[in-house]
Amino acid sequence: MWESLGFRESPFNTNPLVARQEDVDLLVGRSSESVDLCTQLGTASEGVLVISGRPGVGKTSFFNIQQFLLENDQALFGPKILAARTLCPVQPSDDIRKISIRALDSLYRSVNEWCSINKVDLPQQTKEIGKWIAGTGTSGFSLGINILGFGGSVGRTTQLPKISDATFEAISDAISAISAEVIELLHFKSVVIALDNIENLSDELLGSMLISFRDTLFSTPNVWWVLIGQSGLSSLIQSLDPRVFERTTGSGIEVRPIELTELYDAIKLRVAKFHKKKTGKAPLTEETFKNLFEASFGEVRFVFKYSNNICTKFVEAMRSDVLKELSRSSSLGTKLDKKTFEKKPGCCDWSVSYKFANI
Ligand SMILES: Nc1ncnc2c1ncn2[C@@H]1O[C@H](COP(=O)(O)OP(=O)(O)OP(=O)(O)O)[C@@H](O)[C@H]1O
Ligand SMILES: [Mg+2]
Repeated sequence: MWESLGFRESPFNTNPLVARQEDVDLLVGRSSESVDLCTQLGTASEGVLVISGRPGVGKTSFFNIQQFLLENDQALFGPKILAARTLCPVQPSDDIRKISIRALDSLYRSVNEWCSINKVDLPQQTKEIGKWIAGTGTSGFSLGINILGFGGSVGRTTQLPKISDATFEAISDAISAISAEVIELLHFKSVVIALDNIENLSDELLGSMLISFRDTLFSTPNVWWVLIGQSGLSSLIQSLDPRVFERTTGSGIEVRPIELTELYDAIKLRVAKFHKKKTGKAPLTEETFKNLFEASFGEVRFVFKYSNNICTKFVEAMRSDVLKELSRSSSLGTKLDKKTFEKKPGCCDWSVSYKFANI
């Protein structure tokens, strides 16, 4: 459909930006959030950081791009961290064990992906733990691991039971073993594990997760836990588990709506990237974007979603007009093809329709 409007693909894709170079230029604004994030991650090698904001405001996109910049030494300041390329999504049906295993799995995948992008061998222990995670269920196996020491600390060995029997301590050991290899062998300062869409958990489940993770997973050396959720997440954590709140860094980062002018910039960048012509224009007017922006109180995803819908409806309407005209002309015994269509007297609207119909 976007072909008919002159685009290679939709400029209004609502997926979050991901941690890769080609998405970096698509992010607009966010300089103050970026200073906050880089500064807070620089305060220690591990901890818990909260990122919150209204739905669709751009939390995941901001975080993904920022961690990519830190990982690749492109941020102006801040530590060299291994990005959580695979975020750990939290689902309404989750229990706490499932979340902890998914968090470990997402760390394993992030390391694996980094190694394959950078053509580096996956560290040995990390590879073993990957197999251990995949062995969930009856075919699971126990695994002896050696957690490397770093920064002058002494390493230790431990035994992981099969994953179906793993306690939070065992999962935390597996995370420690992977992160120790990332620090020692891949030379990062910390790894990041991001739990995304925390609002999917009930307050009760979030409360139990905080208590269960507090002295186990959240205490793993050289691991930054980033909790991403709706506005007010920091104060919710404070009320559910003040001890975890005391461990969180700063008071969290609230991602606010971008400015209207930044929205226009974001659209220009996408049109330039996805239009087939260099001089291509946005398919809707700034007035329309402004109305959508104001109606949603500044949620970028809302603007993109409805811009997409308007364009889809427009092409649908054009196509059905063309079909009606084709069937009317064939019932009169006239064969209407592209050429005759365009030559039809007084038919400039129809020829536009024909072009959009792309048939
Ligand atoms: N600063 C920005 N610059 C350019 N595009 C953005 C920006 N922020 C968000 N977007 C775009 O807006 C859409 C929604 O962003 P994103 O998914 O990151 O929001 P979110 O706050 O994480 O949503 P949710 O509440 O569902 O988790 C995506 O298409 C994303 O590319
Ligand atoms: Mg998100």
